Amino acid sequence: MSYTQDELLEKINVLKKKLSVTVVAHFYQRDEVFAVGDITGDSLELAKKTMQDNSDYILFCGVGFMGESVKVLSPEKRVVMPKLACCAMARMIDGMQFDNSIKFMNEAGIDSDNILPITYINSNADIKAKVGKMGGMVCTSSNAKKIISTAMKEGKKILFIPDRCLGQNIGNEMGLKSSIIGDGQNPNDMDIICYDGFCSVHQLFTLDDIKFYRKKYPGIKIVVHPECDPSLCAKADFVGSTSQIIKYIAEADPEQTIAVGTEFNLVNRLRPKNTYVLSSTKPECPTMNETTLEDVYLTLKSIDEGEPLNEINLDPEIAKWTKVALDRMMAL
Ligand code: 13P
Ligand code: SF4
Repeated sequence: MSYTQDELLEKINVLKKKLSVTVVAHFYQRDEVFAVGDITGDSLELAKKTMQDNSDYILFCGVGFMGESVKVLSPEKRVVMPKLACCAMARMIDGMQFDNSIKFMNEAGIDSDNILPITYINSNADIKAKVGKMGGMVCTSSNAKKIISTAMKEGKKILFIPDRCLGQNIGNEMGLKSSIIGDGQNPNDMDIICYDGFCSVHQLFTLDDIKFYRKKYPGIKIVVHPECDPSLCAKADFVGSTSQIIKYIAEADPEQTIAVGTEFNLVNRLRPKNTYVLSSTKPECPTMNETTLEDVYLTLKSIDEGEPLNEINLDPEIAKWTKVALDRMMAL
């Protein structure tokens, strides 16, 4: 049986009142799902805010690695996800590819003891666990600069996974030398060696899009997420994480024209006037869009019936080392 949006909302609100559940939604979620979130934010904000929450259940609307992070940081909570959607970038690196990246550096003469791995939070728990075991840590796009600055103090080579764009953009911003595994450059000459992963949504924005908007709206500000290609970030007026982009736009003159290079649902919600999506192709994240209002209702119903759908449970050893890598980030 299918329900109208209003009927679903009513049912969701009844179950939310009845159950000890907090609905958590990432900024990239569909509008109607985002609207039922008790806690909303970017990946870092969500990880922090859910740690302070007292409900028995966290119903997490986002992608898999985010739900896993909540479970690891708050193991006493039961974490359920309406859709077990896996971020395409997180899927780009598995355990064997991580081990091969270490091997590539070893073969270039860099001992494992001299490698400090840093993983973007957009990676699965088994990868975070490997990073934690090697003395490394997690970062998000909001704190990547701070994490890399701290890591540099150890005097080791940084292996940055999985996003080559974030790794290179932060490296460029800090005046560090970076390369991508497989690009033929010698890792010994580099400060940061990046794995060759990327976000397909953020690759949709091009230099031609920037040229088009600058010509059409002289004086426009171009704002992009650091998952965009470094060539694009170099031409932007502002590069920032999701929450930094939101702040930039909130503080901008309402008459200022702005084109934003990040996920569609977020940009569309930001500001009705003078704000454009920096792409002719709608930059929707397919996995973030998988979760529907009906999924939220069905998941709440499953909790009410005592058989929660899609509960996140991790292997204890993976959870232990993932926590080590996440705690190192949280401590900073
Ligand atoms: P934030 O860390 O900015 O929430 O980004 C997560 C993400 O998936 C960006 O594509
Ligand atoms: Fe992953 Fe890109 Fe979607 Fe973010 S926008 S969740 S990095 S696929």
